[in-house]
Amino acid sequence: MRLKKTRNSVVRTSAILAALAVAVLTLPRSILRADGAHDSAASATLFRSKCAMCHGADGAGSEVGKSLNIPDLRSPAVQKLPNTELVEIVSNGKGGMPAFKNSLSAEQIHALVMHVRSLGRKK
Ligand code: HEC
Repeated sequence: MRLKKTRNSVVRTSAILAALAVAVLTLPRSILRADGAHDSAASATLFRSKCAMCHGADGAGSEVGKSLNIPDLRSPAVQKLPNTELVEIVSNGKGGMPAFKNSLSAEQIHALVMHVRSLGRKK
């Protein structure tokens, strides 16, 4: 009797532990997704807060951007550049374009490059 009870509680405890393990394993992934690396709404928000002051929300270039001779991000000249080069430019800057490697994560920069691509498709 006593033995059976112990075994039952061992079974119950391991079921709880298994459930906890699943929760712990899946939680960080859902947080990451909410953080927006692959979420286009989140990268659009990031673009608006970090880039639009110069590039405009649509990538065409704001008044400030135009005074800096900014290229239209939707143009073939920008869209023909490979992802690796766009990541490089956003990370390290170029001319009047500031570097973002110290203020954005690699995932955020990648998401912004994907957003620049989506602007190109919208034109
Ligand atoms: C202070 C204004 C400013 C901000 C903020 C800014 N940029 Fe730029 N960006 C520029 C300028 C100026 C250029 C043109 C650089 C050049 O070719 O000399 C440029 C160029 C670019 C290019 C194209 C480079 C090329 O060679 O064609 C990309 C892509 C780009 N920016 C992405 C971004 C992203 C993404 C952000 C936000 C994280 C951002 N920029 C924020 C000013 C800015």
